[in-house]
Amino acid sequence: MINPQTYYYILYAWIALAIVSFPFLLKQTAPYGRHASSGWGPMMDNRLGWIIQEGVAPFFISYWFFTGTLPKTLMSYVLYGLYVLHYLYRSFVYPLRIRTTGKKIPVLIVVLAVLFNFCNTFVIGYYLGNIGGNYNTDYFVSFPFIAGVLLFGAGVYINIRSDNILISLRRPGETGYQIPRGFLFEKISCPNLFGEIVEWLGYAVMNSSLAAFSFSLWTAVNLIPRALDHHRWYLQKFPDYPPHRKAVIPYIW
Ligand SMILES: NC(=O)c1ccc[n+]([C@@H]2O[C@H](COP(=O)([O-])OP(=O)(O)OC[C@H]3O[C@@H](n4cnc5c(N)ncnc54)[C@H](OP(=O)(O)O)[C@@H]3O)[C@@H](O)[C@H]2O)c1
Repeated sequence: MINPQTYYYILYAWIALAIVSFPFLLKQTAPYGRHASSGWGPMMDNRLGWIIQEGVAPFFISYWFFTGTLPKTLMSYVLYGLYVLHYLYRSFVYPLRIRTTGKKIPVLIVVLAVLFNFCNTFVIGYYLGNIGGNYNTDYFVSFPFIAGVLLFGAGVYINIRSDNILISLRRPGETGYQIPRGFLFEKISCPNLFGEIVEWLGYAVMNSSLAAFSFSLWTAVNLIPRALDHHRWYLQKFPDYPPHRKAVIPYIW
């Protein structure tokens, strides 16, 4: 058990790290998927890597949440439950749906993702278990909660629908790439990543906490550089790639 002041020092440091990491991540292509390279040490099965790196999140957050001493309310359980639901989908449903047979991911990336999930689940789980977020039922009709739910829901919809379009581009056993079309792909190259950013922004608004905001910030800091890399890759790979598409934020970036 740490005192709230120490918790907030850790949280400020985590936010500061996100801000200073952004310029570095813009320069460094994450070596997974189409950018995977063997120069990053031992490799492992891509599907198993996803299951391990994301599958730790529901366990970590449950530990921090349930060992916390703050009295829990229905709202605490909703905020905890949405996080867990997302990660149960991401770790045990999504990896079984992608067409990734034979593909590899560097073990280092999986280890870094486990560490990343450890830090985020500590920040959010410890907050919900010990510091706040245990609003009473009036909060269900408050502006932040309703606006946050709408944003979160829109983000989940955009993310899953876009991932479904990408998955459907390959038949079982195929591993190549095509130009994705339809839905928000007509505006941006990576609507799945855009949806994920909107989803966690919605979660931060719903939660009204710096803890959830830090995860929303980290999601954007991680995924915007990845989307820019994907976008540049599409432009190089396909001479007929639609020139008006942006990378990750419609009409803007
Ligand atoms: N919260 C976070 O910080 C975070 C971090 C990372 C990922 N995520 C989420 O995890 C999910 C996957 O992320 P990702 O970065 O792996 O997404 P991605 O690079 O867009 O790939 C998604 C899947 O679709 C396949 N794919 C992508 N473009 C394709 C194309 N043009 N033609 C055929 N297949 C294509 C990929 O295959 P290949 O793997 O073979 O390229 C992969 O199986 C997303 O929903 C993302 O939002 C969240």
